Amino acid sequence: DWTMAEFRQTKIEEIRAQVGVGPNGGKVICGLSGGVDSAVAAVLIHEAIGDQLTCVFVDHGLMRMNEAEQVVTLFRDHYNIPLVHVDAEELFLSGLAGETDPEKKRKFIGKTFIDIFEEEARKIGGADFLAQGTLYPDVIESVSFTGGPSVTIKSHHNVGGLPERMNMKLVEPLRELFKDEVRELGRELGLPEIFVGRHPFPGPGLAIRIPGEVTKERCDILRKADAVYLEEIRNAGLYDAIWQAFAVLLPVKTVGVMGDGRTYDSVCALRAVTSTDGMTADVYPFDAGFLSRTATRIVNEVQGINRVVYDYTSKPPGTIEWE
Ligand code: XMP
Repeated sequence: DWTMAEFRQTKIEEIRAQVGVGPNGGKVICGLSGGVDSAVAAVLIHEAIGDQLTCVFVDHGLMRMNEAEQVVTLFRDHYNIPLVHVDAEELFLSGLAGETDPEKKRKFIGKTFIDIFEEEARKIGGADFLAQGTLYPDVIESVSFTGGPSVTIKSHHNVGGLPERMNMKLVEPLRELFKDEVRELGRELGLPEIFVGRHPFPGPGLAIRIPGEVTKERCDILRKADAVYLEEIRNAGLYDAIWQAFAVLLPVKTVGVMGDGRTYDSVCALRAVTSTDGMTADVYPFDAGFLSRTATRIVNEVQGINRVVYDYTSKPPGTIEWE
């Protein structure tokens, strides 16, 4: 039986003990993904060790609309936490070019993140620790799947991916927490509600929401569709009732008709689920009016998409993300 205020204090002491404070204390580098978890981890660690922490936001070009700006604003302006903003869109997109295998996409992204962290760590004269916002479900899902045989479902890129050559130890203060607890801790730490209440977003970003090859053009199309979808969800007052909602851009073209012309464009799938921890999930039962309004807007407003479908699969057997 513990409260978040106690947890916060306990963790702060643990972080100080692990990293050391003062002139002989270690240096910590923390990757921000734009999501709640890494933001909460960063704010907590900053509270524990102050300027011994450097945050690195790797913009892989696979973020949602306006997300990169929001992260930079929150950390630099609101919290005054030192933040290195790495624009790595070119690097990620060129590495992903031609790759269609989901696990290879994930592995490339994870490895490239590590490479960039190493480089940034070198630039600040070396770091002794790498901080991550790993949660309890990430830890178990990367090892096995509940109730099933011990197989890796997906290699979550922020878990266990530390190559031997990396001379950094991990600081993972959220490893025992579930998402709802991380949100509670975020509130306890004074993070703005709009940030704390955010739907989870995977580290590999839009790359795993574009089955098949990821290109800049397809990222742009998906960003637009996703923004329309989320705007409709917010307008309908449904955002907080949903665990996660997002659009997926399929590598399938279908025929359509617009005005008096034929179209031949991509299919967009919409996903929305309820869940408490991401381990299991149910489909969010939108009413037909919401879905048809959203589908119409996406086809009308997003060039490159001429058909919208709704994913009606729970987890299991489906996973939340499509890759
Ligand atoms: P799945 O698709 O496995 O997703 O049902 C469960 C939850 O985890 C998120 N997810 C990730 N989060 N790095 C992350 O930080 C990852 O590589 C990753 N893959 C999936 C997913 O968005 C959902 O909330």
